[in-house]
Amino acid sequence: MKVVALHNLKGGVGKTSAAVNLAREAHRDGLPVLLWDLDAQGASTWILGGESGLGKKISKLLAGKSPLGEQVQRTPWERFDLLPADIRLRELDRLLNDKANGDKHLKRLIAPFGEEYALLILDCPPGLSTLADQLIRAADRILVPTIPSPLSVQAFSRMIEHLDLKKRQRERLSPFFNLVDRRRNLHAEWLESPPEAIGSPMTSWIPYASVVERMSLECRPLADLAPRSPATLAYRRLWAELKAELAIDR
Ligand SMILES: Nc1ncnc2c1ncn2[C@@H]1O[C@H](COP(=O)(O)OP(=O)(O)OP(=O)(O)O)[C@@H](O)[C@H]1O
Ligand SMILES: [Mg+2]
Repeated sequence: MKVVALHNLKGGVGKTSAAVNLAREAHRDGLPVLLWDLDAQGASTWILGGESGLGKKISKLLAGKSPLGEQVQRTPWERFDLLPADIRLRELDRLLNDKANGDKHLKRLIAPFGEEYALLILDCPPGLSTLADQLIRAADRILVPTIPSPLSVQAFSRMIEHLDLKKRQRERLSPFFNLVDRRRNLHAEWLESPPEAIGSPMTSWIPYASVVERMSLECRPLADLAPRSPATLAYRRLWAELKAELAIDR
């Protein structure tokens, strides 16, 4: 099983939109997919028509004392499942601080899902803390949606500093541009030649498109909501690029 996290220190940059659409694209491609909504806000749970709230004590679930797998919900798409959000996830950082497992706690917690799924997508809350440290251990790829703006670049640099990544680990952090409007000079410029602090972003980028906002009104991923829209095709290209990088061969 490959594990892909959508993560950024900044909020409102497109983590949830990408998590849901990439999961659906991977599923369309024939992969059994699980999306874990790790954000107490529960946005991806909402879009996928799930019910927020985990049925057991969250401390037990996150300590691995109660099987997380029992909390998985079906979505309207067969073999595209959801581990829903829970308001108590606002304490996620405290819950992930496990002395016995150290920073491999999240990695251990998700390992059993490998029996059923080829891809696990983690929709993370904004911020930089214990979760961020553990993602480096748990995820094959951390995708960082980045709005082309100087403040976003600064946030990306803060993430790199905080994580204090070794070279090999840094390669696992993949920024991609979201909310791109090519009529704006800076956006067009950065697509051609990204600022050095960003490193090598994914080649694929997602345009600003109002249909993305409609996902949370109509509660469907773009592939179902607007199959031929440019934004749908952009997420499809992003998935294809990710799939190739992760050497997923089906
Ligand atoms: N490419 C896009 N075009 C237009 N709107 C977008 C695009 N990407 C995201 N949005 C909108 O921006 C808002 C934030 O997006 P999203 O919820 O995906 O971000 P997030 O990083 O998950 O936010 P949070 O940090 O609150 O979890 C949403 O209203 C979403 O519909
Ligand atoms: Mg979100």
